[in-house]
Amino acid sequence: VDGTALEVRLAARPVGPPRESDFALSETAIPQPADGELLVRNTWMSIDPSTRIRMNGGDSSYMPAFELGRSLESSAVGEVVESRTPDFKPGDWVAHPLGWRQYALLRAVGSRARAPKQIEVDAHTPARAYLGPLSWVGLTSYVGLLTVAELRENDVVFISAAAGAVGNLAVQIAKLRGHTVIGSAGSTAKVRFLREELGCDHAFCYRDGDVGELLRAAAPDGIDVYFDNVGGDHLEAALEALRLRGRVALCGAISDYNRDRSVGPGNLFNAVAKGLTLRGFLAPMYSREMDAFRREMRSWMAAGKIVYPETVFHGLEQAPSALIAQLAGENIGKVLVSLET
Ligand SMILES: NC(=O)c1ccc[n+]([C@@H]2O[C@H](COP(=O)([O-])OP(=O)(O)OC[C@H]3O[C@@H](n4cnc5c(N)ncnc54)[C@H](OP(=O)(O)O)[C@@H]3O)[C@@H](O)[C@H]2O)c1
Repeated sequence: VDGTALEVRLAARPVGPPRESDFALSETAIPQPADGELLVRNTWMSIDPSTRIRMNGGDSSYMPAFELGRSLESSAVGEVVESRTPDFKPGDWVAHPLGWRQYALLRAVGSRARAPKQIEVDAHTPARAYLGPLSWVGLTSYVGLLTVAELRENDVVFISAAAGAVGNLAVQIAKLRGHTVIGSAGSTAKVRFLREELGCDHAFCYRDGDVGELLRAAAPDGIDVYFDNVGGDHLEAALEALRLRGRVALCGAISDYNRDRSVGPGNLFNAVAKGLTLRGFLAPMYSREMDAFRREMRSWMAAGKIVYPETVFHGLEQAPSALIAQLAGENIGKVLVSLET
């Protein structure tokens, strides 16, 4: 493929919430695949809160930081347009980790995390579902509840950022398994969505007051499992509300991401007093469960039991605004950028 294409690079490391000027749209020559490589025309890319963490410099035990002046990355799907490897042919659909650009040059084999994976696209399963319910995001909600928090019969479950991508799927999975579910989110519209569209038993807007009091009102008898997407005041509230031997899946701490350090709960002694289990995780640590998860998710989708709300931005130029909007809580469901022209 000849010509040029766009990519979004890190122009400056943000201080606090990212701004448009932290990103630069650059035009580059479309790369030519060498032996063992393939060229993919990206059609959709995922917007993820973790991108904000990776925009900071410095070493951390988390994913590698982005380099200044280099393209950002996130999950993407697209169509193979050129291939110099027998593993892929033009017309194949793949999911891979090189979003934030119109064309991605990938090595067919190599690091497991970076290798492209073939995806099955059909009338019921659009390619972008592999950035939502059939993706790492879906796996995160599934293993977070079932494996990490060891969800048990009759558990009362509290999920924060419940109207977001991971949260809304976690709510739906817990409801499909018959649990009482409490969801929190940042607006009245989201609370209505949680109650009316997802079937949350109780939902509250954390901006309406003290999170601890709001949670106590929603779950006066306490909770057994907390699926933590937020950290900070939400984690503190959950530690108060958890019953004996309750479990917390530490999935994310978005209330920290625009700060340069993470804030721990001031009431961690609850973990001692109530014999709680707090377990952090990253979905790739459970990649062995991906096939089983996808089978179950596909069957729920085919039976019409899962909704997957999306907030879609159009064009790579909109990707920075999409991330800024997500961190500001302007999305319901999965934030995606359509790269189809
Ligand atoms: N462990 C893993 O492998 C893994 C994988 C994927 C994602 N995650 C984590 O899961 C969480 C959700 O990710 P996602 O991709 O599904 O994003 P998302 O929930 O679709 O979007 C982020 C949401 O977080 C909420 N939020 C932002 N700032 C907040 C604050 N200060 N306090 C409370 N809520 C705030 C906003 O909704 P409101 O209007 O409700 O504020 C926003 O819509 C993140 O913490 C992410 O890092 C973890």
